[in-house]
Amino acid sequence: MIVVLTGAPGAGKGTQADLLAAREGYRKLSTGDALRKHVKAGTEIGRLAGAVMERGELVSDDLLFRILSEELGTIPTSETVLLDGYPRNLAQAEALDTLKASHPVRAAVLLDVPRSELVSRLSGRRVCGSCGASFHVKEQPPRVEGICDKCSGKLGQRPDDNPGSVAVRLDVFEKTTRPILDYYRNKGVFREVVGTGDPESVYRQLNSAIKGK
Ligand code: AP5
Ligand code: MG
Repeated sequence: MIVVLTGAPGAGKGTQADLLAAREGYRKLSTGDALRKHVKAGTEIGRLAGAVMERGELVSDDLLFRILSEELGTIPTSETVLLDGYPRNLAQAEALDTLKASHPVRAAVLLDVPRSELVSRLSGRRVCGSCGASFHVKEQPPRVEGICDKCSGKLGQRPDDNPGSVAVRLDVFEKTTRPILDYYRNKGVFREVVGTGDPESVYRQLNSAIKGK
């Protein structure tokens, strides 16, 4: 079973997916994380995707479907998978539906956050170069500045968190990703959660929305 977690860049998809995975036992599958692993490892996929990601544009649908299928193949179909960052356009939503015999979409939840807050979240985000954990200089600061609470790795900025790429990413969400909301509305599985407020209160609402409460 699949739960699609969608929202603009900086909406808190990764933060919430980590909480849900730790507390509810869902399996998190982030296509952004999978791509960044390829970039770090210098694979063929990483070489194709790295520059596109840095500009804030979408990587090709074919490559993404390959990654999605590979990653899903490692997860038993009995588990509920939280998809963070896929689908990002209608073609990807339709591609995901081709897997519905083994991976039906149970819910698609939007984390809704206004653009001005997204920009400040992304400019203040710091990520761990070792384990990928995410912090924010003001909202979720690490205990020691520049050092990851979880693994003591060094914190830095994501290459696509510069102002130019952030503007491109936000536009891509509005023009290309937002249409998938109607796609899931029409299928009767769409839900929406206010993504502002502290992460714990967002978590409570999101968890209820996923469970259909
Ligand atoms: P991806 O890695 O998915 O990036 P994104 O969608 O731009 O989203 P982010 O990871 O930036 O934000 P998030 O929603 O996870 O927020 P987070 O929890 O970190 O994709 C990167 C790139 O890969 C794409 O641009 C594209 O190139 C490529 N790609 C990936 N999937 C693809 C696909 N399917 N097709 C094509 N290309 C694809 O939180 C952000 C910050 O806010 C953090 O600092 C956090 O601490 C803080 N924060 C979180 N929650 C709160 C809160 N409640 N209050 C205050 N601060 C908060
Ligand atoms: Mg993320």
